[in-house]
Amino acid sequence: MEERLQKFLAAAGVASRRASEKLILEGRVSVNGKVVRELGVKVLPGHDEVLVDGKPVAQEKKLLYLLMNKPAGYVTTVQDPHNPQTVMQLLPDIRERVYPVGRLDGDTEGLLLFTNDGEFAYRMTHPKFKMLKTYIATVQGTLTEDRLRQLREGIMLEDGMTAPANVKILRRENHKTIVEIAIHEGRNRQVRRMFKAVKNPVLALKRVSIGPLDLKGVAVGEYRYLQEHEIKKLRQRLGLAPL
Ligand code: URA
Repeated sequence: MEERLQKFLAAAGVASRRASEKLILEGRVSVNGKVVRELGVKVLPGHDEVLVDGKPVAQEKKLLYLLMNKPAGYVTTVQDPHNPQTVMQLLPDIRERVYPVGRLDGDTEGLLLFTNDGEFAYRMTHPKFKMLKTYIATVQGTLTEDRLRQLREGIMLEDGMTAPANVKILRRENHKTIVEIAIHEGRNRQVRRMFKAVKNPVLALKRVSIGPLDLKGVAVGEYRYLQEHEIKKLRQRLGLAPL
């Protein structure tokens, strides 16, 4: 979001707001190559180049972390020329550049994170960091004990064996089984492919949690900012320094 130049300078630690105003009036500040001498000019942090006495002002990027309850029918990309409905359209009020952490299929619902913190995104999705993702899958047919065991122990897919998964039957309905499955890998369409391999294709899929985060209080299509204690906990688990 744009902010007044003196506020930007103060936030960057150049000087107090008052002293920053003085720097501006003295003609010591330039924005995108042009000296600014009046108050009231606004800049976009991370976009405009601001110099004081010819030296760039170091800008601290504000790290953002959002949690969305993604509806089915939206693709997880920043831009997709073939599909006008991307998850980014569900964040109309976010002016900063954020991107999805991992992905959910277009027809999958549920918990999707967004951030502008590249290291966080990398660690959340890399299997090495073992961040557990839990899904509720409605699958066709009866999931037998034998198939359940196969899913738990690992399934051979075309890109290799899956790691052991936590799998629990929640209930059986007419010709359907509702299953909770937790995995820390994130291969393309992994859950769907696992169930297809045991001949119980997925009819509906929803991600209900990632590590300690769940969808409580976030309606489908809505999002919220992560709270400080949540960010702290996740960063700790991922071996990242506190902010
Ligand atoms: N596994 C899938 O098959 N689809 C998803 O969207 C996420 C995990």
